[in-house]
Amino acid sequence: MAILRPACEPLDVGPEDRRLSPDELAAAVRGRDGVLCSVADDIDAAVLEAATPTCRVFANFGVGVNHIDLKAAARVGITVTNTPGVLTDATADLTWTLILATARRVPEGMALLRSGNWKGWTPTQLLGHDVTGRTLGILGAGRIGTAVGQRAASFRMPLLYVDQRENEVLDRVGARRVGLDECLSSSHFVSLHVPLTLQTRRLIGPRELGLMRPDGILINTSRGEVVDETALVQALRDRRITAAGLDVYEREPHPSPELLTLPNVVCLPHVGSATTGTRSAMAELAAGDLLRVLNGQPPRHRVGHEG
Ligand code: DGY
Repeated sequence: MAILRPACEPLDVGPEDRRLSPDELAAAVRGRDGVLCSVADDIDAAVLEAATPTCRVFANFGVGVNHIDLKAAARVGITVTNTPGVLTDATADLTWTLILATARRVPEGMALLRSGNWKGWTPTQLLGHDVTGRTLGILGAGRIGTAVGQRAASFRMPLLYVDQRENEVLDRVGARRVGLDECLSSSHFVSLHVPLTLQTRRLIGPRELGLMRPDGILINTSRGEVVDETALVQALRDRRITAAGLDVYEREPHPSPELLTLPNVVCLPHVGSATTGTRSAMAELAAGDLLRVLNGQPPRHRVGHEG
C-alpha cells in the first residue's frame, strides 16, 4: 500500500481478510484501472469482464496463477503479472520443514509432551524414519523443485526428478531424471512442485499412490488439486504409504477432515511463502508491476496465455 498509495487515487483496499464471493469480487473490480489480487481470489471470466473496459492489469500477489482465467484475460486485453523467484527459498525451506517433521514425527512428539503423558526416554518411543541417505524424488524441477533438490545434498540423499526437460543444476548435484512411475516407486520422499494445469490436476491418484513404497512419504507444497485428496486419505488410513506433509489442499480452506486427525499427517495452512521478508518482496513485485503497466512500461513478470 505504501508503494501504491502515492500513485493511485483512490486506492481501494478490500476491507475484509477473507475470500470474497464471485459477486463481491466482480463488484470490487468494476471501474478500477488495476487490481492487486491474491492466490485466494477466483479471477474467472466474469470477474475479468466486470473489470473491463477500465482495467489494464491484474497483478497477482503470488507465483501460481491457476486461479486466474488467463485465456479470458488475454481476450479482454488485461495484463496478468505474478511474483516468481522471490518466494523460491521460503517455499523450499517449508518443504524441508515438512520432510523433516513427517519423518521425525514432530507433531506427535509435541502432542505427547502437551498431553502431560510423557513418562521419559524409552528405546522405542516415537521412532521415525531416517532422512539422511534416503532417496528424494521431485516432481517438477522448476525454481522451487530445484531449490528443494539443492538442499538435499546436505542430507546426502540420492536425487530423482521428473520433468519435461533436463535440469542442469540438479544434474550437477548428481540427480537423475526419470519417469513418473520410477520416481514414485524408488523414492522414500516424493515432493510435488508442479504448477496446477489441466495436465497436472490429480496427477497423484490411487494408481500413483499404489506405486509408492510402503515406507514412502508424500510432500505437497504446490497445489492441493495435484493430489486426489480422497485417495490420499485412504492410502494414509490404510498405511499404504507411511505419511504425508501437506501445505495445500484440494478445497481450501477446507481440508478433508481426516487429514486433521490422522497421526501420520503433518498439515499446515498454505504458508509456503509466509515469511515477513518473502511476503514483503512479493508485495513490492506485485505493486511495482501494477504501476509499471499503468504507466505504460513492460512489467517485470507478465504471465502469458499459451494456446
Ligand atoms: C503462490 O505464490 O502461488 C503461493 O501458493 C502463495 O505464496
